[in-house]
Parts: sequence; structure tokens; C-alpha cells
Amino acid sequence: VYSPGVTDEFTIRTRRAARESRIRIEPGGLARAGEFARRLSGARRVAVVGDAAVARRYAPTLLRSLSRAGFECERIDVPQGERAKQPAHLVRLWSGFAAAGLGRADLVVAVGGGVTGDLAGFAAATWMRGVDWIGVPTTLLAQVDSSIGGKTAIDLPAGKNLAGAYHPPVGVLVDPETLRTLPDRQRRAGLAEVVKTGMAVDAALFAWLEREAGSVAAGETGALAVAIARSLKAKARIVQRDERDSGPRTALNFGHTLGHALEAARSYRGPLHGEAVAVGMRTAAALSVRCAGLSPNARERLDALLDRFRLPRRMPPTPVARLFACMERDKKADAHGVRWVLTPRVGHASVPRLIPRRLVRAALLEAGARG
Ligand SMILES: NC(=O)c1ccc[n+]([C@@H]2O[C@H](COP(=O)([O-])OP(=O)(O)OC[C@H]3O[C@@H](n4cnc5c(N)ncnc54)[C@H](O)[C@@H]3O)[C@@H](O)[C@H]2O)c1
Ligand SMILES: [Zn+2]
Repeated sequence: VYSPGVTDEFTIRTRRAARESRIRIEPGGLARAGEFARRLSGARRVAVVGDAAVARRYAPTLLRSLSRAGFECERIDVPQGERAKQPAHLVRLWSGFAAAGLGRADLVVAVGGGVTGDLAGFAAATWMRGVDWIGVPTTLLAQVDSSIGGKTAIDLPAGKNLAGAYHPPVGVLVDPETLRTLPDRQRRAGLAEVVKTGMAVDAALFAWLEREAGSVAAGETGALAVAIARSLKAKARIVQRDERDSGPRTALNFGHTLGHALEAARSYRGPLHGEAVAVGMRTAAALSVRCAGLSPNARERLDALLDRFRLPRRMPPTPVARLFACMERDKKADAHGVRWVLTPRVGHASVPRLIPRRLVRAALLEAGARG
């Protein structure tokens, strides 16, 4: 049951970073960002970092609200898309912070998708050895997944996310109404992470998605607000116990062994992250039936839900050898096999298990890879 327009707020405490992140989900909340930020920060100055396309739409509302709350605001736009995570843009942000006179007690606000959060979060982590930041995620992927957990990073020529820091935001403001302008394909890709959270850690969320698939797929704000809140709370429960990727947090890598390999094998110009993860989850579920006792019926439920969100069944034809090479580089594969998070049943994931290469090969071929 949900009512559109509800506001939800809770706190995530991470052990290692000894910090709290306040999470607020509020349809229309962008216009009240200043009050939220004021509760969390005594800063005088704020640098608002936005993806150019997002900032054009949403920065004025944000800046108006922040100014009304007494912050001196500086807007710094970064390019749209993954290339904003190139080191040169980090340097540009640092220069922008210097020009704005951003001090140790000041604040960075990041408005945009996962790219902007990763870049601006890392800039905040490194500016004067760490200043507070608030995330205002505007893609579904960022709203349900990347905005919490504290990981920030930029890309290097040698690989994605190679330089980064754990630096959780003091606050995350999710305004589901911003999703109205998000391209349909981006929204559906974000839903893959919601399905992942349901399948790997939250059976009730999975069942809710099955019931509400119609309104979720149609992008109804109220339904998305509930999906976001439930996903974030499930992720928060896990991240609280395990800030690094060692223990229970590995469950959230369900679908990502193949998902990451597929993105890398297609040089990040192929399927979107969520689309690659959808193929990865279908393949992990097939392996779970063989190796972890997942019932064929549960596998069909996963496939059917991903179908409802029109997420791909198969990957673009990609050589098996290239996928294996990417999994090796990602330290997921070696001579003995490939490490997969499997799901013995809906809502439960195993620790990563080594699956023999011949079984993986067969599953990859079934998912559309080329021999
Ligand atoms: N830190 C983490 O834990 C974590 C987890 C997963 C992914 N990531 C990172 O996140 C990035 C991907 O994030 P993403 O999928 O959000 O991509 P993105 O930030 O590039 O956004 C996707 C596109 O949507 C546009 N957009 C964003 N919000 C919009 C809105 N409300 N209306 C209209 N257009 C909008 C953007 O301009 C962009 O073109 C990758 O770099 C990945 O490495 C980080
Ligand atoms: Zn993911």
C-alpha cells in the first residue's frame, strides 16, 4: 500500500566511517532542499555540482531553496555522461572550489545521476582532506543504489572507478518527481537494481514488485517512491553491517559478475549498467538452478519480472573468451572457475561461489555469447 506524495526519512550509520547519512525521500523535495541541508550542515558556502543536462532543469530550484536557507551558492556544471569521471574534471572541480572559497566547514551538493555523485563525492572526499556533501540523485539507478553506501570514484585510462574513496554523504535527498524527465530506457535500467535487491535480499520487495509491476513499469511517481524507499532501506540494512565489500554486502553483487564483464567487454558503449545486470541476473539464476537449488519456478518469476520491465533477455553477441578475460581482470575468474553470487531462493543470496568454467561457458552461450 502506498500513497503518492508521502515523505520518508531515515538514518544509515556506517561503522567504519563513523558517520551518519540522513536519507530523505520526498516527492517535490527539491524545492525544500535548503531546509534539509540546513539541518545537516552549518556551512556558509555550498558548491552545487551538476551534470549539465540535469543542472539545466533542476539547479535553479535547488539554488533558490539553498539560498533561502542562508547558503552562499556557487553552481559548477560538469559534462553529461561517464566522461565527467575523467581526472581532468576532478581537477576542474577542485579549481572551482578554490575559486568559490569553499572551506573545511563548507558543503558540496551533487545533483545528477551516479556519475555526478561519484565525481562530486570524490571531490568532496579529497577537498581539504574531506568536506561534507549531500547527494541529490536524479536517475533511478542513483536513487535506489549508488547514492548510498559511501563509494565515490573517478575513472582512469587503465580502468573504471580505479581512484576513489569511501566518503558517505551526510545526506541524500531523493525527489522521485525528477524521474519524470528521465528517459524511459534509463528508468527501466534502474529498475534492474530494484529487482536485484528483491531477489538477493528482500523477498517481500520482490513480491511487492510482482504485484505492482504495472504502476512501477508505467513510472507512476508514488509507486517509484515506494520502490526507492524499500530498496534503500534494504541496502542500508546491509551496508550498516558491512561497509566494505567483504561480508553480507556481496549479496548486492548478484547479477554483477556477468554484468560488469559485459559492460567492460563492450567497452561501456553497449548495454546500460542495469541492462547488463539484468542479463547477469538471468544467467546467475540459471546457474542457481543448477548449483544452488533455486527452483525452476523461482527462476521463471525472476525472468517474468525482468520481462515486465522490458529488460533484455540476451546480451549482444560477445565472444565468451572476452567475457572470461574481463571476469579475470575483475578478479572474479581464475583457472578453477568463476565466482558468482547465487540465489538459493527468492530474497536470499549465497556468498560468492566458485563455479566451474564449463558450466559458466554453457550459461554464457545460452545468454547469447558467441563461442
Ligand atoms: N558509487 C556507487 O556505489 C555506484 C554504484 C553503481 C554505479 N555507480 C556509477 O554510477 C554511474 C552510472 O550512473 P547513472 O546510470 O545514474 O548514469 P548518469 O549519471 O550518466 O545518468 C544517465 C543519464 O541520465 C541523464 N539524467 C540524469 N537524471 C536525469 C533526469 N532526472 N532527467 C533527465 N535526464 C537525466 C544524465 O544527464 C545522463 O545522460 C557509473 O559511473 C557507475 O560507475 C556508482
Ligand atoms: Zn549495479
